[in-house]
Amino acid sequence: MMQKILDWLDERIALRQLWAAYADRNIPGGASWSYVFSSGLKSIYLTQFLTGLLLLLYYVPSTDHAHTTVEYIQKEVYLGYLVRGLHFYGANLLLILSLLHLGQTLLTSAYKNKRELVWISGLILLVLLQGAFFTGYLLPWDQKAYFGTQVALSILSSVPLVGELLETIVKGGPRMSTLTLSRFFVLHVLLLPALFITMLTVHILLSRRASLVADKQTDKVDKYYPSQFVRNTVFAFLLLLLLATLSHLVPVTLEPKADPSDTTYIPRPEWYFLPLFQLLKYFPGQLAIVPALLLPGLLFTVLALLPFLDRKVERRSRLGSAFLIVFICGFSMLLTLAKLDDYKDVATSKQLLAQQEKARVFLSEPFLPQRLDLKTQQTCPPASFLINCAECHGQNAEGTKNGPKLIGITHKPARSPKDLPKLLRDPSSYGLSEDMPDFSSLPDEEIEQIVDYLSSL
Ligand code: HEC
Repeated sequence: MMQKILDWLDERIALRQLWAAYADRNIPGGASWSYVFSSGLKSIYLTQFLTGLLLLLYYVPSTDHAHTTVEYIQKEVYLGYLVRGLHFYGANLLLILSLLHLGQTLLTSAYKNKRELVWISGLILLVLLQGAFFTGYLLPWDQKAYFGTQVALSILSSVPLVGELLETIVKGGPRMSTLTLSRFFVLHVLLLPALFITMLTVHILLSRRASLVADKQTDKVDKYYPSQFVRNTVFAFLLLLLLATLSHLVPVTLEPKADPSDTTYIPRPEWYFLPLFQLLKYFPGQLAIVPALLLPGLLFTVLALLPFLDRKVERRSRLGSAFLIVFICGFSMLLTLAKLDDYKDVATSKQLLAQQEKARVFLSEPFLPQRLDLKTQQTCPPASFLINCAECHGQNAEGTKNGPKLIGITHKPARSPKDLPKLLRDPSSYGLSEDMPDFSSLPDEEIEQIVDYLSSL
């Protein structure tokens, strides 16, 4: 029966031929663990694609809902935190593996000798990846996304002549808004992936072709299947395991929703943009364009020209390795300097710690559904709330500097409508500080009204 189905398919789509082309490819020099990077990259890319698809089921790209939907994915959706974690850490891993793959290519001088186009398509993939990082960063619309992107966009505006125009186009207006978010969203989930897939296909086809025409035919040749296949599968499996473990043990953070009026927030980019960020400090004002665009552009051009500058045919040359060493040294030096600067500046490090703490608290709070209809039919606070509580907790329980906000309080553990009357009569037994007065003298009736009111928020 199986045989028949296979025959049927074979007649129509040349199944056996396809399989042979896949499985019987020659691996010159024999199967090797050093070849696993490129296949690992493909597996992680596939993971990004699938987890991205799952995130899309919930995510809404508007300033009203983006943050709430990401928070919902993180806190409520079954295994949502894992999917988000895989997508976040997967992106980091994608970058790390790409750089390793690039480093390997530089070290073995595998960018020349009929592989120039493979090399250049690889570089373009790296640029597209950066684009995906930059656009994905804004999507959660939390504090760090908002202020981080704002810094990056302000650099864009320092481009001579067209800078301001460019910034306005990217933002979709004078301020960052839903228009910005949907522009980034379209780039992140549609345009960049489409370009990436196309370029990846080109990259793979070119590299297959190159290994046919460029590699010396050595005696030792393995077929792709099973020896290399097994190695690749084991590596991909280990990578996925690593990602899942990381996402479970160190959940991705989410900071509170972006508050454009916050003037104290200090944005810090992710590790891979930190060196660039450090460079920016040495080029103030209009000069920012040097490290932000000229330097990366120069780096890209030199890399792209490398196979043409380095024309000796023998496989290994020092140029690639030298470049790699200079790059790694520069990158780690700037990274260290950036961390050191923040660490030495007391006010900054204090603020950064406070921001981390806020993010931690926010993540540990339970998810509160956003009730859109509430604003219109919101219940008025009862008089006794206004008299006894509003002074510290605000007219509408929104919180003041003297007391925390009480909106949604009844969803918290040990703060249910049953707990609250007891809490008000004896705050200290609920672990509250002296600052929260004892209301044991308040009549039952008034307490009931206050609790009803708080439960309705
Ligand atoms: C003098 C200021 C003050 C007044 C008046 C006051 N509170 Fe508070 N309340 C606080 C402070 C400060 C805290 C936080 C204490 C802590 O975290 O240890 C607090 C905490 C609470 C909490 C727990 C919040 C949480 O997140 O766990 C509840 C519930 C609460 N107050 C309800 C009330 C109600 C109801 C009234 C009016 C009957 C009231 N408070 C009046 C200052 C006040």
